[in-house]
Amino acid sequence: MLKKMPGDEPHRIISTTPDTAVVFKPAVVQTPAIITLVIFAARFVTGLFRFAWRHPVVPVVVAVPVMLHVLYGWRVALLLVTPVLVGLVTWGFLDRPTFAHWVGWRLLAFARWFWIYRRHWQPVMTVSRLARHIRGREYLPRLVKVISDAWADRITVKMLDGQAVKDWADRTDNLSHGFGARTCRVSIVSSGRLVLTFPRRDPLETPIPALPIPDTPGVGPVEIGKQEDGTPWFLRLLGTHVLVAGATGAGKGSIIWSAIRGLLPAVRAGLVEIWALDPKLMELSFGRELFGARYAADPGDCADLLDEAVSVMQKRAARFAGLQRSHTPTLDDPFLLVVVDEVAFLTAYQHDRQLRQRISAALATLTTQGRAVGVGVLAALQDPRKEVMNIRNLFPDKIALRLDESEQVDMVLGDGARDRGALADQISPLPAPGAGVGYVRLETTPDPVRVRAAYVSDADIRAMVADCEEAR
Ligand SMILES: Nc1ncnc2c1ncn2[C@@H]1O[C@H](COP(=O)(O)OP(=O)(O)OP(=O)(O)O)[C@@H](O)[C@H]1O
Ligand SMILES: [Mg+2]
Repeated sequence: MLKKMPGDEPHRIISTTPDTAVVFKPAVVQTPAIITLVIFAARFVTGLFRFAWRHPVVPVVVAVPVMLHVLYGWRVALLLVTPVLVGLVTWGFLDRPTFAHWVGWRLLAFARWFWIYRRHWQPVMTVSRLARHIRGREYLPRLVKVISDAWADRITVKMLDGQAVKDWADRTDNLSHGFGARTCRVSIVSSGRLVLTFPRRDPLETPIPALPIPDTPGVGPVEIGKQEDGTPWFLRLLGTHVLVAGATGAGKGSIIWSAIRGLLPAVRAGLVEIWALDPKLMELSFGRELFGARYAADPGDCADLLDEAVSVMQKRAARFAGLQRSHTPTLDDPFLLVVVDEVAFLTAYQHDRQLRQRISAALATLTTQGRAVGVGVLAALQDPRKEVMNIRNLFPDKIALRLDESEQVDMVLGDGARDRGALADQISPLPAPGAGVGYVRLETTPDPVRVRAAYVSDADIRAMVADCEEAR
């Protein structure tokens, strides 16, 4: 029978793969047009109901004026609708934040859901291969909801069964271009559900001038700059250790100086001591008067200063043992912050092997035991490779400023950070758009946050020094 068929016909109706059984395809059934039309109509009506269920405000907004018009005529409809509109506009002018919270952002989220995400959802999913075609049926991840705020759209997505977060993290480029955003960040909300964040604007585009020195002494989180959503970026220093990595010119200095600036009132009040190690002689030397005797640049002096910090720490530990597990700074036992610029000069590039080992051991001791007794380390370095900095994992909180290679991102921030959107290797090398910009990964939150440190210029440092001398 097969031989009698013309041309390629047999190939269409039987499988020709050698290792499978012969499978005959089913005959084509002609569906009457009316059935197809009924199916389309049923889908349309179900879609309308689903839409009304998910967005109940929209049918009300449309239906009420129409009903008023039908029942009482257009004049009554206009008379009743106009005050509502005027009320909304007045509310928007008088109390912008509450209007934005209750109306503005919801309207924007709806518009963006309707016009961008829902409209492009199927093509973007298909082209980026996040949708699946199985036996002629298309399976699409579900777009659950869109929330908008002043900075970004956050889209909750129900993944297809069996999909992994990595499938999405690998396609952030496709997603951001597909939906017309600059970047896309993927985070998990619950099993099978993700949130995709698409920023609409970038509050970190332009440099942030140095923040004012706080009025009151405080040892809590210090304001360093801004987070990418425009909110202030506070960095905790007490009770942790912070590692800042970034290529040359990435702006490590602005994080160090913003931290010092934020702690300055507490330093004056005697609640904080800053011990500065400046082996490169370029960064902290600028404000060395602020550190008094606790400043070292020569590697030998740095080792001595670190040993002294270890000894303070051990004495405290002996006194506090069994009494307290976290430290509240006092005048007798202030918070001791050891700031090290370019720590690799001391740990890796130091020729004197003995000195190198002494410094590495002191740093490791401080970072493993210091935080419970009020000793913290804030270290900066350019090259985050393990050979250069073998104790980088002892720093609970990490900041990656601009890095040269993509592999370095996970070295600094931990595994998977780059997949979760920490694109530190793509930060601009130009100072205006890129210096001080980076990604923070805190011990408590696995998702990296994009931030920018305020720029503390040389003039700002000079003013700080002059201020301190005056206070003395
Ligand atoms: N937060 C910032 N905002 C804007 N520009 C900045 C910022 N921080 C630094 N810059 C600019 O970038 C230049 C380099 O900054 P900085 O010296 O802090 O970099 P670095 O990472 O310490 O580099 P290096 O490793 O060479 O010491 C500065 O001279 C300044 O012009
Ligand atoms: Mg520097």
